Amino acid sequence: MKYNRCGKSGLLLPVVSLGLWHNFGSVDVFDNGRAIVRRAFDRGITHFDLANNYGPEPGSAEENFGKILKKDFPGYLRDELIISSKAGYLMWHGPYGEWGSRKYLVASLNQSLQRMGLDYVDIFYSHRPDPHTPLEETMGALDTIVRQGKALYVGLSNYKPEEAKRAIEILNSLGTPCLIHQPKYSMFERWVEDGLLDVLEQYGVGCIPFSPLAQGLLTDRYLKGIPEGSRASKVHGFLKASQITEETLDKITRLNEIAKQRGQSLAQMALTWLLKDKRITTVLIGASSVEQLDNNIDAMNNLDYTQDELSAIEAVLRG
Ligand SMILES: NC(=O)c1ccc[n+]([C@@H]2O[C@H](COP(=O)([O-])OP(=O)(O)OC[C@H]3O[C@@H](n4cnc5c(N)ncnc54)[C@H](OP(=O)(O)O)[C@@H]3O)[C@@H](O)[C@H]2O)c1
Repeated sequence: MKYNRCGKSGLLLPVVSLGLWHNFGSVDVFDNGRAIVRRAFDRGITHFDLANNYGPEPGSAEENFGKILKKDFPGYLRDELIISSKAGYLMWHGPYGEWGSRKYLVASLNQSLQRMGLDYVDIFYSHRPDPHTPLEETMGALDTIVRQGKALYVGLSNYKPEEAKRAIEILNSLGTPCLIHQPKYSMFERWVEDGLLDVLEQYGVGCIPFSPLAQGLLTDRYLKGIPEGSRASKVHGFLKASQITEETLDKITRLNEIAKQRGQSLAQMALTWLLKDKRITTVLIGASSVEQLDNNIDAMNNLDYTQDELSAIEAVLRG
């Protein structure tokens, strides 16, 4: 595994990080998730990303991760792990169970720590900006959480360039710098290229793109239909069959050909295409099997691109 410095911080993160959004909930097979986490750590993935609501049931991914830690990661290994959680989306009933108030963020992290059996997380995120709560309150809550010793670093997710800039400046003024930003970014979703990456670079904040494989679209998964057990086949999957259009399939097929010429799987090309930008600290993947995980980590064997390859990819994406 290769490790990149996260922005201008002292923290190194593996170039591939593992997220537990899908495949680790109470509806999933526990031993499969356990095998993926164990394999990830054995291959040098030190960073595991969670959120209060991951499941389904919401909260169950954190519970399962806590069980895996208890079974397989003796206490001394805690210092070899970077574990993150987040709060922002709906988690419990009533007015305090979502968005960005101090009340919600502090209470939610306490719940997450309990579910995972941890004293602290390494990174705690505001999962989304809240248009109705002053940014000062949300950032103030992140600062408090760090001062309470419940998180070592803080991050932002889904904040647009202007919002991110203001939030980063508030955090700086509080003395709790923003470590990292977690946006959706892949070959199919490129909004971060219009300003966000520049802001992050300017302030020395790292970047961890989520869904770098567009939830599995940027792989060979759907080239021959929708396989049983795939995300698009599941009722609770966030990838909907309707997103696999003829036009998308055509692009996937053409990208797959370029990947073959590079001697890579399409998944591997989708990941290295993101990592060629030095502002990207690590790619945050999901996986439903140890094989997928291994395939994604092996992407690091071919990180370089020729100008011709980049132009060919660009032609498909813009076509
Ligand atoms: N901050 C936010 O708002 C936010 C939102 C979403 C996600 N996230 C984070 O980002 C993480 C990753 O998101 P994601 O799961 O959507 O990421 P992704 O890497 O884009 O998609 C993962 C899916 O792609 C398929 N796949 C992975 N590797 C493959 C391979 N080598 N060959 C073929 N198929 C492969 C699998 O689908 P199948 O299951 O069909 O096998 C897997 O479940 C989440 O776990 C979470 O931590 C954050």
